[in-house]
This record gives sequence, structure tokens and C-alpha cells, in this order.
Amino acid sequence: MQWDKTQLKKTIRKVIGEKLLVIASNREPYIHTYREGKIEYIRPVGGAVTALDPVMRVCKGTWVAYGNGNADKAVVNSKNEIKVPPEKPCYKLRRIWLTKDEENGYYYGYSNKGLWPLCHMTYTRPQFDDVDWAYYKIVNQKFANTILGIVKNRKAFVWIQDYHLFLLSKLLKEKAKNIVTAHFLHIPWPNPESFRICPQKQEILEGLLSNNLLGFHIRYHCGNFMESVRSELEARIDLERTSVTYGGHETVVRAFPISVDFDEISASSESKAVTSAMKKLKYEFSITDDTFVMVGLDRIDYTKGIIEKISAIDRFFEKFPEYKKKVVFIQKGGLSRMHIDKYRELNDKLNNQVEEVNWKHSTENWAPVIFIRKHMSRDEIIALYKIADACLVSPLHDGMNLVCKEFIAAKNDLKGILILSQFTGAARELNDAIFVNPYDREKFAIAIKEAVELPQDEIERRMKNLRNVVRDNNIYKWAGKFLEELKKI
Ligand code: F6P
Repeated sequence: MQWDKTQLKKTIRKVIGEKLLVIASNREPYIHTYREGKIEYIRPVGGAVTALDPVMRVCKGTWVAYGNGNADKAVVNSKNEIKVPPEKPCYKLRRIWLTKDEENGYYYGYSNKGLWPLCHMTYTRPQFDDVDWAYYKIVNQKFANTILGIVKNRKAFVWIQDYHLFLLSKLLKEKAKNIVTAHFLHIPWPNPESFRICPQKQEILEGLLSNNLLGFHIRYHCGNFMESVRSELEARIDLERTSVTYGGHETVVRAFPISVDFDEISASSESKAVTSAMKKLKYEFSITDDTFVMVGLDRIDYTKGIIEKISAIDRFFEKFPEYKKKVVFIQKGGLSRMHIDKYRELNDKLNNQVEEVNWKHSTENWAPVIFIRKHMSRDEIIALYKIADACLVSPLHDGMNLVCKEFIAAKNDLKGILILSQFTGAARELNDAIFVNPYDREKFAIAIKEAVELPQDEIERRMKNLRNVVRDNNIYKWAGKFLEELKKI
């Protein structure tokens, strides 16, 4: 069956019926900011919001998230709500305000200095701080209070997202019997040996085991989670049902590989706005028809392997200098979590690296790496995918990675090859990519050469297969399958 908006609507009616639907995440899908005295909005680039906004457009309901834009307060009503998407409002965004201390302790501290490196296992040491943990609990309680206020005594399904809200289900269930909860984790779950160092591991597992359904991207993460429970708690693990019973309550654990709105991206890639953005990009970066363009799009995060990618490009030009002036790499890198040392250091390191690599290989009017730092609109991002002959996605570890799926959806003309890290969740589905180990610089450089030299018919064959996979396993299927599982429970 081909999943689409209509199919998802039917499933929602069956599963949710008259119940209230509430999604809870840290990141909001639209951020309002002041620019030159006017209020505008941006769409954040993270995978969670990219995937869930199309789902909410169909499901309606209320999305509860932290409002961190400097104009967010100016546009909400007295209930701190605004209808979004701004261009065609159809669901409610309820904003939660955090103090500086709360943001610092809960978001920068516990979530991103502690849980993020703990779950990704990319050799960045997690830091757990008691004060951060206290704020993590306070903010989870704040989300719970807001949701309880929205739901009141109605029946509701609360769909919790990601690692910022591990305690939320338990806090809700303690106060309300009319709420069903499910939690989807957008990042990997670590193996039990890595997880066991977390000082708050018991509270975290107990929080997650309050849910009726727990979703991960891939089976491997489900397995890691069940093993972590086995090591840390006195719980009954049912491998047949893949469920955990703890304190008399059963939580079903399942894999749901997240995806993108294939049809929407594919249709936008034919729009006039995208065509004109492509022309502008080509002009701005002096791209001619015979330039082989490689692109990368990442938040500037040490898990994304951007340093490793540029290092492989450096090696590629060292080994194969005949490609100088013929191949160019455009990396879009959005600043992220800059109040954390590791992120600031990475950003500085990247600046130096790009400078060095360009200095080493550049000629009079050509440089191998173009680093884009400015915010790009959705149309510009799709235009970037469209001008690319290859997309380089090289995380050291990633739950899924949606950049590669967006690239595939934008490639209606089949003219593009995907170079993909074997350490992404997406690698399990996208078999026609060229796979790399981002830690292996030499082989990565050779893979780039392979991509550049791949014959056109082989590129098209691979892209056709990749598009079939992403079209069939789109975001509506992800949401539909999740809800169907909930119905069974
Ligand atoms: O895949 C989704 C995700 O990686 C989240 O886990 C994360 O919250 C988000 O994208 C981006 O990070 P942030 O919300 O901190 O900007």
C-alpha cells in the first residue's frame, strides 16, 4: 500500500478518533524572530521538526515546544498559542517559555552535554552535572503541567519526541489516567556498556517505561534499549513481543524508520522558486555546466563528521589532482548549540580547516570548498540538492539522517549519487548509496573518486532505486505505522 496524506488521515480517524492529539518536543517547528524591525519566521533544520511538521499538517492537534525565537512571544495569543504553518495555518503550536537558567541547565547542559554524546558514542565525553539534571526535571515538569492544562479531563494521546523529555510520560501518567503516551527517539540509543555510566540511568529508564509505546529508528537501537533495561532494572523482557514490563506496566518497543515528505519535496523541486534559486546559486558560486558539484548540509555538530568529510576531500585532491577546477564541494553548515565549548571549538576548527584546504589546493579562480553559513530558505536548500551531482552525508553516528532522504526526493531527474556513512540509520535502507566509513580518510577519498567517475546510466539506476525506497517509505508511512501499532496496544 502506498502511504499518503489521505491514508494517514484515515488511520488517524481510526486510532485517535475523538481523542486530543498533543505532540511534545523541545524544538519548535517555526521560530519567529525580529529582522530589521520586522517579524519573520524560520524553519529549524533538525530532523525531528522536518519530519513531524508534514504529519501535524494532516493530524492537526497541538504541538507543545520551547519558544526560543526573540519574536515568539510577540505573535502568540493569551494561551501562548499560534496557528501554524504561517503560510497556511492548520494546527496549533503552544509555546513554553524557559528562563536562561532553565535553558542552560536543561537544553545546553543535561540534554546536549550529557545525553547527546552519551547516545551518539562518538568519543566525546558526556558531562553529567547535578544542577543541569535538576533543571532537566524542572523543564520536563513544565511541559507536563502545560500538557495537563491543555488536556484537562479529556482523553488524549501525547506523542513525545526525543531525548529532552525522557521524564515526561511518567510525570503525565502520575497525574492523569486519561492519557496514552508514546515516545519516539530521534537519536540512537547506546549499547548498555555506554549507557551504564549515566548517573540518572534509573530515572531515565523508568520515565521511558511509563510510555505505552516506545519507538526507535532501527531494530539495533531497540535491542540496545532492551539490553540496557535488562542490565539496570528488575523488569520482564519479552523478546517475542519486543516489550518490557516494569512495575506491572507494559511498554511495547518497536522500530519505525523516520522519513520525509517525498511527494512534497519532489513537487517543490519543479517549482519556479527553486529554478530561480538554482540559477542564483550557480551564479554566486561560478558553477558551470561541466563542474561536478558535491554538497553537504549539516548542523555544525561533532557527530556529523564534517571535519572528516573535508579531510577526505583534501585527500581526494592530493591523490587525484587532475580533478582540481573540475570538482567543487559546497558545505552548508548551520551554527548550533554555540554555548557549548565543544561546538564552539568545532566551529573554529572547521574555519581553520576550510582555510587550510582551500589555500593548499586553490588556483587563481577556483577553490575546492565553499562553506555556506547563512540561513537558507527551503527553496534554496532544495535548489542546492538539485544542482548537486553528489551529496556527501558522513556522520560518525546518526539515528537516521534525513538530509540524504531529502536529497533523493529532490532528484526527479535521477542525476545524483549519494555518498553515505555506514553509521547512519539511513544506511540500512538506502542500499544503492556509495558507503563510506568517515573515520577511514583514504577509502573515503577513493569513494569520492568513484562517485565522480560513475557512468550516467549507473547513477540513474541507483537513484531510481533510492527514490523507490524513499517514496514507498515516506513520512506518512512512518506516522501511520506508529499509530497502527498504538491501536494494537
Ligand atoms: O534528528 C533530530 C535532531 O537531531 C534532534 O535530535 C535534535 O534535537 C535536532 O535534530 C537538532 O538539534 P537542536 O534541536 O538542538 O537544534
